[in-house]
Amino acid sequence: MRRIPQMVIFSGILIFAGLFTGVGGSRSTTGQASASSKALNPCAPPNHMLSSPDKTAWGLLIAATCPVNNNQYPYVTWENWIEQNQMYPPDPDNGLTIPSSLAVANGTTHALHGSPLALLKSASLATTVKGLLGAADQDCNIAADPPNGESTLVICEEVRENGATQDYIAGDGLWNRSGQIPAAASESGIEFPGPAIELKVDWIELASLGYDCNNLPSSLQTGIHIETINGNCYALAGIGLMSKLLNNWIWATWEPQNSITNPNRCQVLGCSDDFGSNPLRTHGANTNLTPQLIALMDSANLAPEWRNYRLDGVQVRFVDADGKPTLLGNSITEAENAGIPLKQSSCISCHAVSSIENDSTDGITLLNSNPVGKPQLLPSRAWSRRDFVWSLSEACPGSPFQNCD
Ligand code: HEC
Repeated sequence: MRRIPQMVIFSGILIFAGLFTGVGGSRSTTGQASASSKALNPCAPPNHMLSSPDKTAWGLLIAATCPVNNNQYPYVTWENWIEQNQMYPPDPDNGLTIPSSLAVANGTTHALHGSPLALLKSASLATTVKGLLGAADQDCNIAADPPNGESTLVICEEVRENGATQDYIAGDGLWNRSGQIPAAASESGIEFPGPAIELKVDWIELASLGYDCNNLPSSLQTGIHIETINGNCYALAGIGLMSKLLNNWIWATWEPQNSITNPNRCQVLGCSDDFGSNPLRTHGANTNLTPQLIALMDSANLAPEWRNYRLDGVQVRFVDADGKPTLLGNSITEAENAGIPLKQSSCISCHAVSSIENDSTDGITLLNSNPVGKPQLLPSRAWSRRDFVWSLSEACPGSPFQNCD
């Protein structure tokens, strides 16, 4: 509403003027870029690649994090998206009923779960966080590879799928395994639409680190998104995003700058962000936001804590210009929670393995290492890929990730 046409024209003139007076040289520090970001509605996700993958990733995350309610769940836009558990009914014979966004947003359905990836490797990591004051218990898991001295670290996860993702899974019958087989094997294959976005969010259960929501140290009171869910206190420590704006998706991941929750942020692979971080590359030191990212966050009205989240990096290809595998992983989601050594973590290569055999065997059975680099071949023509989407493994009957009826 604030972005009236006059403003768009106004910033258009600024850009135009910038081109002709030559101020465009230092994009990150002049007002030019912030003027151009204001020209877009920051709460509408970009529908094409922007000038860099890092800028595009920020545009996608910020639109998803636009405020909904200040003081109650759902706080941000993605909390109104469907959770993957709601997309894959345990008994496909009963059909698919997607809850309305009202029911998705209702506190009782802010259900978290363990990391299917962590539990697949080690089912004994499963744990339950007891609901307080009559609220339901949450199934979570003990982190597979926690930092020193945190052997009881409990992490809970959720996966949110935006409207475009939801519509495609529902409309193409991918929510049940028998629908997936012909769709994957068809000539057009499984191919999500450009606006499809999925988010995987990792929450640290703060009691497992000895903290309590009513008595948080100052370092946990600001600069990290905290929620009380079913009576328990959680800190949002990792966000992974995939967006279908590119054929092989854009892969991006963020963490808060917080030494209690994210002590290993950027330590192993380094972090790199040509849009939002000053300095651009780091190995764990805190960074400042660039003026252009601050302007984008201001225009989207983001709550203050989100301004302390940093992009670890973005991945858009399997290998770099020298043919070496590209790597990306979050110190919480992939490393601590799922136990993947970050030097073996490639979002795009691991997700490329998502596939299904025509006898309904799930491609997760092919994932017996941490693949990096060019996509590995499927075993035979009986197998078809599923467009990098691992949540399709949730489909019943016979899901490796959930107990089907
Ligand atoms: C070694 C394999 C592996 C790596 C590396 C990996 N993932 Fe995943 N990812 C999975 C599996 C398996 C799932 C499904 C189960 C789950 O939710 O954990 C998944 C789920 C997801 C989802 C939920 C949506 C979906 O349907 O797939 C997102 C989003 C996601 N990953 C993003 C990322 C990003 C971003 C990275 C890199 C920073 C990454 N993943 C690295 C295996 C991997």
